Amino acid sequence: LTGQDLAGERVLITAGPTREPLDPARFLSNRSSGKMGYALARTAYRRGAEVHLISGPVALPCPPGVERVSVQTAREMHAAVFQLAEKASIIVKAAAVADFRPAVEEREKVKKDKAGLSLQLSRNPDILYELGRNRKEGQVLVGFAAESSNLQAEGRKKLATKNLDLIAVNNINSDTTGFECDTNQILLIDRERDVLLPMTGKEQTADMIWDRVVDLLGKRRDK
Ligand code: PMT
Repeated sequence: LTGQDLAGERVLITAGPTREPLDPARFLSNRSSGKMGYALARTAYRRGAEVHLISGPVALPCPPGVERVSVQTAREMHAAVFQLAEKASIIVKAAAVADFRPAVEEREKVKKDKAGLSLQLSRNPDILYELGRNRKEGQVLVGFAAESSNLQAEGRKKLATKNLDLIAVNNINSDTTGFECDTNQILLIDRERDVLLPMTGKEQTADMIWDRVVDLLGKRRDK
């Protein structure tokens, strides 16, 4: 069993989808089940970290010992992240945050005969980008990328543009990686190198991501 190599760390993790309301009955969302983020939270706690989990709506129980804050929309997630980010030594953003929301949230259920066939959208805040611009001294910032092609190029681009230490890129176009499934295969990219992790359970994947984070922490603290 991996030792308590995250003891003393305050870890902030986001997981699950967001829901962007259209009217009291309908919303825009995505296929995230929360499994990847919850595996990260469970394994970080087991390795000694103090873990705060900000979670969109999922059908998973809060892992024992983990502090969970539940949110619905990207804007609620944004607010919850910035309440906790200041004190976190490690932030991992595994949530599938909606980039857009319906421009108007109708108070009444939209009637079939009244509904137009086009939907006006507004842009949501890019939480990870803002975290990258407001980094705390020594903080380790880890992002995810959900891609359907060009995993390495897209991952490298996000690592740079969002000022990340590490990015975990997964292919969402296969039924054994990405959304909903119990397995994943991550391409781990940092400033020095890319490592393609084996296809394995999300728990083992999470442990391998923490191994890399512990590496980065060690390097940073040796300086
Ligand atoms: O939950 P599961 O069913 O287990 O599925 C796992 C997963 C596929 C959701 C997960 O492995 C994953 O890839 N999460 C990131 C999904 C995503 O939104 O990727 P993206 O490439 O659109 O976003 C890139 C990064 O920016 C992510 O760290 C995301 O949290 C963050 N982001 C995105 C949009 C936004 N408005 N704010 C953000 O912070």
